[in-house]
Amino acid sequence: MIQISDSAHAHVHLIDHPLVQHKLTLMRKKEASTNSFRRLLGELSSLMAYEVTRDMATQEVEIETPLESMQAKVIDGKKLVFVSILRAGNGILDGVLSVVPGARVGHIGIYRDPATLQAVEYYFKMPKDMHERDIIVVDPMLATGNSASAAITRLKACNPKSIKFLCLLTVPQGINTLHEAHPDVEIFTAAIDRELNDHGYILPGLGDAGDRIFGTQ
Ligand code: URA
Repeated sequence: MIQISDSAHAHVHLIDHPLVQHKLTLMRKKEASTNSFRRLLGELSSLMAYEVTRDMATQEVEIETPLESMQAKVIDGKKLVFVSILRAGNGILDGVLSVVPGARVGHIGIYRDPATLQAVEYYFKMPKDMHERDIIVVDPMLATGNSASAAITRLKACNPKSIKFLCLLTVPQGINTLHEAHPDVEIFTAAIDRELNDHGYILPGLGDAGDRIFGTQ
């Protein structure tokens, strides 16, 4: 069985809060309806947003409370971009935006050509001034790590200030692949499962995240 490399390990943040773990367990169950799967993913994404934004820069502004003036901290949410890897990444957007409503959103669509096995980009739309922004790439499943790596390579061409990767589930192989391609990217996940099957699905996993979010099974 593949193990997470030591250097990759230092860049993985396992979000093991009991609420996150509880909701993830409910989502994994095969009998979870599309409706509850989507709702739980939204709730989980909001909770995970706290962890992934923990080191966001703040600045002090002067405000008036009902009693006196004070210097108080604010974030600049507009500098943050959530980039969804289509299509399952879209299931994470509502939850993270409920916590950081000022954030911008980008979308990237990538598929693997079955003949060449190369990543092919079919959609790429980002806010402007990416060089001023911190990116959080979202995709529920970090499986082989190939499309995540390709997406991040493409995003780096925009010269952003930083890139993090947020997922729900991953496996050692996906972590190692992403880390080898992008050792500067921190990975945030709610669970590290056992392995991939021959079709690239995570085991035990939760099935096809896109199908479960959108009810397309
Ligand atoms: N994508 C999914 O939706 N599920 C997996 O298990 C792996 C990749």
